[in-house]
Amino acid sequence: MTNEKLNIGIILGSTRQGRLSPQVGEWLKDIADQREDANYELVDITDYQLPFLGTTDGTEPGIAAWNEKLASLDGFVFIVQEYNHSISGALKNALDFAREPWNNKAAGIVSYGSTGGARAAEHLRGICGELQIADVRTHPTLSLFTDFENFATFKPAELHLENVTAMLDQVIAWSGALRTLR
Ligand SMILES: Cc1cc2nc3c(=O)[nH]c(=O)nc-3n(C[C@H](O)[C@H](O)[C@H](O)COP(=O)(O)O)c2cc1C
Repeated sequence: MTNEKLNIGIILGSTRQGRLSPQVGEWLKDIADQREDANYELVDITDYQLPFLGTTDGTEPGIAAWNEKLASLDGFVFIVQEYNHSISGALKNALDFAREPWNNKAAGIVSYGSTGGARAAEHLRGICGELQIADVRTHPTLSLFTDFENFATFKPAELHLENVTAMLDQVIAWSGALRTLR
């Protein structure tokens, strides 16, 4: 066993120009950093310039870099936004681009949408099962109507803090426990 701090990636699930996900990711990272129980980092899919899976020969450096980044992480928090009742195509593509680097790790989900992104989050849970990612129970759900001003500026209600704390507690506990399997 190691006592080294866990590395937790906060994965921004959208790549849309003008996306809201960086605001949500930074809010979460600020809360997480105050805990001092792990190394938390924002992981932005756009940095990896992933092609659409299967449309190239797979030698783009971003594909290897994406796998290396995931391999360096012990757990994840997915920032999930609802697109047509599911996750974004960009997040699905990024999930499909790795296998072992996802396995035997824990993840939390923070979602947003008109109904808190609940439908997208449930789809992601199914994908997590296939990728052997242990998704934790507590799931902060943010409303586009009440947690964002004019659907643009993130102003989260205070009540979410309790769920975020519980979700991170579970991610840390399971990420640490799953180290023994890796
Ligand atoms: C193509 C498309 C489909 C969408 N479908 C849904 C939906 O099914 N349910 C929902 O709550 N919001 C839906 N939305 C609204 C998005 O959740 C909202 O625009 C959100 O800000 C997207 O996240 P992002 O800004 O980080 O990209 C959709 C938006 C787009 C562009």
